Amino acid sequence: GRVAVLFGGTSAERAVSLKSGAAVLEALLGAGVNAYGIDADERLAEQLIAERPDRVFIALHGRGGEDGSLQGLLESLRIPYTGSGVMASAVGMDKLVTKQIWQSLGLSTPAYAMLGGIDECAAIVEKLGTPLIIKPVHEGSSIGMAKANSLAELQDAWRGAQTYDDQALVEQWVQGAEFTVAILDGKALPAIRLRTPHNFYDYDAKYLANDTQYLCPCELPAEKEAELAELSLRAFNAVGCRGWGRVDVMQDEAGRFYLLEVNTVPGMTDHSLVPMAAKATGMSFTDLVLAILAGARC
Ligand code: DAL
Ligand code: MG
Repeated sequence: GRVAVLFGGTSAERAVSLKSGAAVLEALLGAGVNAYGIDADERLAEQLIAERPDRVFIALHGRGGEDGSLQGLLESLRIPYTGSGVMASAVGMDKLVTKQIWQSLGLSTPAYAMLGGIDECAAIVEKLGTPLIIKPVHEGSSIGMAKANSLAELQDAWRGAQTYDDQALVEQWVQGAEFTVAILDGKALPAIRLRTPHNFYDYDAKYLANDTQYLCPCELPAEKEAELAELSLRAFNAVGCRGWGRVDVMQDEAGRFYLLEVNTVPGMTDHSLVPMAAKATGMSFTDLVLAILAGARC
């Protein structure tokens, strides 16, 4: 049957999604799959109803594509789609609810507070200390995120974050190493360690600068790597995720892991992390795309 690859969209991560979608579509066509692309806009629902593809590969990042709304539409249309279902997509797009679920299960995540206005900054610095990191609750690709070393910096960071989202989450800064763990078909792929000269693996480091070092194997001792894989898989399952995704994790200088977030439609450009982890197991980009597609459900 025909496979529609959905990409683009209207979220702040549109530019990333254009690249993910192009790479996925090219891989599917190269593998002989009867696939076509749809640059998703406000006519997407009508288009899906008119065209009725047999399956949908979701390569949309951020709100409107990764947040459960599209997944709900596809459920209603009975069209199988890749990745997580409605609830897990909605939860994964919400960094606060994700943390609350993890905390309720005793899975470690950085201490945090919600920030709803500039007048709340002082109380947060009092409660959590510095440095801090501020994150729009419903964004991806580190959009709107900033590190704050002082009250004044937190106030500045709030001004930036709230242009993307009226809810912001402030977390205690974890000094240490950053890891990401791709999950495919119920298994963790080898972890990748991200070494960036930036404050953290931000939008520039992800997509613009070429100065991040990706370590896979990640140079953790075997038992630590196993602990990280198990934690990531538990985190993924706790949110109810399905098919594929990616869990981002920090490790502090004492060796403890802290869950940051789960991505239910991770980047799929040729330079993205899930393809990199798959490659470390001998799986090509095309094999990965076909495996994700094979998991399409509704
Ligand atoms: N939100 C971006 C696309 C990622 O997680 O890879
Ligand atoms: Mg994300």
